[in-house]
Amino acid sequence: MAVSGRNAIIQLLTLALLAISVANQALGIRIADPISDPSRDASDQALKIAVFALGSFWRSEAVFGCVNGVIRTTAGYSGGSKSNPEYRSLGDHAESVQVEYDPRVISFRRLLEVFWSSHDSRQVFGQGPDVGNQYRSIIFTNGTEEARLAAVSKEKEQLRSRISIVTTQIQQLVAFYPAEPEHQKFELKRRPFLLQLMGNLPEDELERSSLAAKLNGYAAELCPPKIRNQIDAKINQIVRKGWPVLKDV
Ligand SMILES: *[C@@H]1O[C@H](CO)[C@@H](O)[C@H](O)[C@H]1NC(C)=O
Repeated sequence: MAVSGRNAIIQLLTLALLAISVANQALGIRIADPISDPSRDASDQALKIAVFALGSFWRSEAVFGCVNGVIRTTAGYSGGSKSNPEYRSLGDHAESVQVEYDPRVISFRRLLEVFWSSHDSRQVFGQGPDVGNQYRSIIFTNGTEEARLAAVSKEKEQLRSRISIVTTQIQQLVAFYPAEPEHQKFELKRRPFLLQLMGNLPEDELERSSLAAKLNGYAAELCPPKIRNQIDAKINQIVRKGWPVLKDV
């Protein structure tokens, strides 16, 4: 879809959602979970955790949020020795994303492919316009099998071109420190209409929501076309349902 067409739709959606929220206030109902949220069904015991650093964690979180089989994402700090890092003083840590995933749907190997294809692992001391040690590229591993898979994937990546060196480090995962709330689902929070569509969840629910993780990727335009189209269709459906309510006001 052309950018101008998208913007027009977003404007229309914003209007429609405003109308829906006004109508709901009048009727005293809240739109509960208009798009189905898979985090409600997934049994947490079966989930696995992976951590990656690939530049700004705002973007990293959005990259993984829309991947099928990823249940939750959290932006944070890892890879350094400073305890309790903060955004303004993260010490030797790297901005990272923690990915909770369902291993029955997606493998660690596939997550590695997403990692490699979503950033420039050959850029030294930064990522895109973000310069600094905090933006370095790291695969965190837990156990020998993950360490092996990471090493194999790095070798494969290096073989793609010998002209420049893949700078990605492979480190054993020691600790992951979640970042401050304002850095969680950062891309989604720049789109109030999407937040409203979810029923303006409180911060802690938003941080744990699969739907929020997905819409965070959608907001950053990082969803694969198939998932993006699904979300577009669901939003349109909700908006269409909203209009008759508006007429009654
Ligand atoms: C590594 O994996 C094991 C088993 O899945 C888990 O119990 C442990 O918490 C993980 N370690 C870290 C640092 O996440």
